[in-house]
Amino acid sequence: MFEPNDRVGVAVSGGKDSMALLHGLKQTFPAAEFVALHIDLGIGSYSEHCRERVKELVEMLNVKLEVFDLQEELGFSIEDFKDTLYGRKVCSACGTIKRHLFEVLAERAGTKILATGHNLDDVVSVMFNNFFNANWHQLVRLKPVLEPSMPNQTFKVKPLIRAPEEENLLYCLYSDVPFREENCPHAHMERLRRNREILEYLSKGNPNFKYQMLRTFLKLIPILEEHVEKPKLIKCKVCGYPSSSQICAFCRRVEIVKKAKQRRECR
Ligand code: AMP
Ligand code: FES
Ligand code: ZN
Repeated sequence: MFEPNDRVGVAVSGGKDSMALLHGLKQTFPAAEFVALHIDLGIGSYSEHCRERVKELVEMLNVKLEVFDLQEELGFSIEDFKDTLYGRKVCSACGTIKRHLFEVLAERAGTKILATGHNLDDVVSVMFNNFFNANWHQLVRLKPVLEPSMPNQTFKVKPLIRAPEEENLLYCLYSDVPFREENCPHAHMERLRRNREILEYLSKGNPNFKYQMLRTFLKLIPILEEHVEKPKLIKCKVCGYPSSSQICAFCRRVEIVKKAKQRRECR
């Protein structure tokens, strides 16, 4: 994933997984330089709480922090998506915004490696979903080390891909790592819970089930990569980042949310 003396950007949301990740990496690789990357999504007290927790951890570890404040830098927040066609799926718009801003933050931090806190439970449940929907391209993107899609982009690494979320929670509790106690008000608990319940059911009586599933998917990925055509990427006309269309998904969403905001202000 990286060399022991590399400079590594760690996307830290304030949640237990990414907080355990930054703490664990810092203890394990003292010669590496870690930069914490945080996106303040402007989701009221939830985002304030997350940012506070992240600040607490970086001070504790003496790690540099780069923050992207959506409201300050782009003039809107994730809350503003409530007035758009994404009103019922704010989370999905948020995911697209975050993926783009991770690249922006990594560039600011001068790193080509972006580590995220995706855990075993997250990855297996998303792989499971993609598998049943024959969403092969998205399934491949979940591999532990994802190479850049274009030269200036980052390597995306998931050091905790084999760590169950429960272990990350225990790690935080035993190592006194601060983490957020609030849940995002936009999290779609219903859908998440349903997927998780299926996996929990299959894990009953076989605590290795999720590891086995991950192992199987990881064996499948190289085969899929040979057969699944990668989308052709070009540079987005607005921001210059890789895109499968003239204007990338991030810029399209920014335009939609800004227009909705203007309309609201004119009323
Ligand atoms: P999620 O998509 O919320 O499950 O988050 C997956 C990973 O993305 C987390 O473990 C973090 O590494 C990263 N992440 C999510 N939200 C943020 C954020 N607001 N700021 C920085 N990193 C984030
Ligand atoms: Fe993005 Fe909740 S963190 S909508
Ligand atoms: Zn763009």
